Amino acid sequence: GKGTYPYYMLKEIDEQPAVLRRILQHYYVDGQYKIDEEILKAIQQADRLYIVAAGTSYHAGFASKAFFEEMTKTPVELCIASEFGYNMPLLSEKPLFIYISQSGETADSRQVLVKTKALGYPALTITNVAGSTLSREADYTLSLHAGPEIAVASTKAYTAQISVMAVLAKAVGDYIGNIAASEFHLVKELSLVATSMVAVLAEKERIAEKVEEHLKGTRNSFYIGRGEDYYVSMEAALKLKEISYIQCEGFAAGELKHGTIALIEENTPVQAILSHKALAPHTRGNIMEVISRGAKVLTVVSDDLANEDDDIIVPSVHPYLTSLAMVVPTQMIAYYATLQRGLDVDKPRNLAKSVTVE
Ligand code: M6R
Repeated sequence: GKGTYPYYMLKEIDEQPAVLRRILQHYYVDGQYKIDEEILKAIQQADRLYIVAAGTSYHAGFASKAFFEEMTKTPVELCIASEFGYNMPLLSEKPLFIYISQSGETADSRQVLVKTKALGYPALTITNVAGSTLSREADYTLSLHAGPEIAVASTKAYTAQISVMAVLAKAVGDYIGNIAASEFHLVKELSLVATSMVAVLAEKERIAEKVEEHLKGTRNSFYIGRGEDYYVSMEAALKLKEISYIQCEGFAAGELKHGTIALIEENTPVQAILSHKALAPHTRGNIMEVISRGAKVLTVVSDDLANEDDDIIVPSVHPYLTSLAMVVPTQMIAYYATLQRGLDVDKPRNLAKSVTVE
């Protein structure tokens, strides 16, 4: 049950630091990463990895792409499950398919799995539900260990997916003797992420007030960011729109001036995410551009880049793992915006927890 929580979503947001620690307990045993050698080999032998997923799981794939490529030295391509059937990418000689799915029951993803299996390509499913269809039908499975996720809006599954992808990337990197992997201390870095999350989760009241001030009465808004922060923006926007019904677009900050900035008018709310040092000055420039066109901006910034005017400060983490830390305040923004509108946070209209139709 949800215990003393008013909604499952808030409980699941709060569980995230514990989920990260649980993932480490499952996958890091006696000083070793515990991943089947079969899986490590399959990834080593592949010349390209295709991640197939939908919604939040698709966004978790994006958040994992950079470190996965760096650790495994293999290119990673993202595929929207529902598009794959008629928009199939030109496949490499030795592809390996990675299906990321909280429920393991998403029909769009399953349809692709059936197809790639028929073509003879190996498949790995990463899911929260052991024994689910996608997990049974793939050659290999990794579990998220996030515990049941009840709220329609996915939160802890997203951070668990990225964390398990990080464990897998690190294990493959070590397996193939990649120096970059031996220098990446994942256990330590994931523990720092958990600590960062705890600090942000302690700021609920302050964040709720900021959200009230920033999003009250609005019908639309934008998230902007660059690099990893752009990927988090996509996820943050999906979360906000699916439960609060505020129309929201996650945008690459530098792309705004190529058209979308025309939508900014007096008091349009824009949420900016900044966690990468080299990119922050550019995003700061984009913030000035939207402010000069009347936007009101709420900033979500990692502490090493923050100044006194910033709104939500997130203790900084390893550059590979910023999505894990930066997403938490955006989940809270979606939660409070929805609560403040008097809507049912856990059961948004028109949506089901798992989408079992194509
Ligand atoms: O169970 P899955 O991870 O395969 O589900 C994919 C999407 O349907 C899911 O992430 C959906 O986008 C969520 N409602 C987002 O919060």
